[in-house]
Amino acid sequence: MPSLVHTEIETAVKGFLIDQEKMTEVVERMTKEIKMGLAKDTHARSVIKCFVSHVQDLPTGKERGKYLALDLGGSNFRVLLVNLISSSDVEIMSKGYNFPLTLMSGSGNALFDFLAESLSEFCHTHGLENESLPLGFTFSFPLQQQGLSKGILVAWTKGFSCEGVVGKNVVSLLQEAIDRRGDIKINTVAILNDTVGTLMSCAFYHPNCRIGLIVGTGSNACYVEKTVNAECFEGYQTSPKPSMIINCEWGAFGDNGVLEFVRTSYDKIVDKVTPNPGKQTFEKCISGMYMGELVRLVIIDMIAKGFMFHGIISEKIQERWSFKTAYISDVESDAPGEYRNCNKVLSELGILGCQEPDKEALRYICEAVSSRSAKLCACGLVTIINKMNINEVVIGIDGSVYRFHPKYHDMLQYHMKKLLKPGVKFELIVSEDGSGRGAALVAATAVQAKSKL
Ligand code: BGC
Repeated sequence: MPSLVHTEIETAVKGFLIDQEKMTEVVERMTKEIKMGLAKDTHARSVIKCFVSHVQDLPTGKERGKYLALDLGGSNFRVLLVNLISSSDVEIMSKGYNFPLTLMSGSGNALFDFLAESLSEFCHTHGLENESLPLGFTFSFPLQQQGLSKGILVAWTKGFSCEGVVGKNVVSLLQEAIDRRGDIKINTVAILNDTVGTLMSCAFYHPNCRIGLIVGTGSNACYVEKTVNAECFEGYQTSPKPSMIINCEWGAFGDNGVLEFVRTSYDKIVDKVTPNPGKQTFEKCISGMYMGELVRLVIIDMIAKGFMFHGIISEKIQERWSFKTAYISDVESDAPGEYRNCNKVLSELGILGCQEPDKEALRYICEAVSSRSAKLCACGLVTIINKMNINEVVIGIDGSVYRFHPKYHDMLQYHMKKLLKPGVKFELIVSEDGSGRGAALVAATAVQAKSKL
């Protein structure tokens, strides 16, 4: 514990420092919830829904062809063209579109018209307007899937709240918007969660990949389950295919109150100012959308009590969400005793003339928030690995927190090792382009399935 840190600050962040005993408790509670989500009898009242993805085939490396993909649900919106040329050669072209923030809370029609417009612009730029390419839609929100190309939106997360979409089939909404324009011939053949894209994309190169994890704006994981255990799938007893990817939607863990023992008063404040209070409890403790705001709330509390920055508050730090989660990565990237990134962050926040103890305090708060995130994520992964009852697994991971935080990977690995049964081997691998290559691979499965009908 850094000696420069005021005891009052240590006390304030104590709630974020969860020990091994609490982590074991999290694993136990999560195991129960996952089992409830999978089972037909308990699914309706479960919080971790364990949705059936309808993806039953892992990549073989033999998938070929050109596919379009849309990626909605992270920090930006993208259109991609993926050409699966060979098992080692995949060409991806992509364009990010400026996503007007007003669309996040506007009408569903406005959202889907924007997606269709961007897709059309992309197709025209690449001379694809007359090609009838299959499209895989990476839609990173909880979906009740009734097939590879039918998904009903259960709830919005991550700050989205567009009207008229919850309860509707998102594929139809997209396809109708494409058809309304009438200027492209694209056919949406599959809808998938980003975790599923991440798993598929990683499995293309690492056949032992069985879990997909996202720690970005939001957080979630999917894994390969035995079809017979996926009781909410109609064909769970009759399907000839042994596996089914399950989209856990673990972000909702704790929405029934079972995570109160790892939450702090700051978590409760963050929750209240989101468009979905009381929802996505686990995600709000873990993911990039919320971590920076948690740090900001601790800081302003400490300033108000006179323990940081001589009690002087800047205008910027008073603004909600002004402490970006990327700042946590910046601050923790400084070597011990150095404050280059920290100084940059403080100056962006309009906080000038800080002394070393203030900078140490800031680092301490950031570490408290990021290490709780990594510990909880480790608990989630361990729960899944135990549930799968396997001794070796590759985990494909994507998301800005995992990618950019200097110690996230190491923390995750360290805590997983401590929680797992001895002898269980795992590898954490960054999964490239889940929403591109992963979407194309799922679309390829859908096209293949159709051609067999
Ligand atoms: C969504 C998940 C998604 C995750 C990561 C969560 O808010 O509910 O569907 O996988 O974010 O993007």
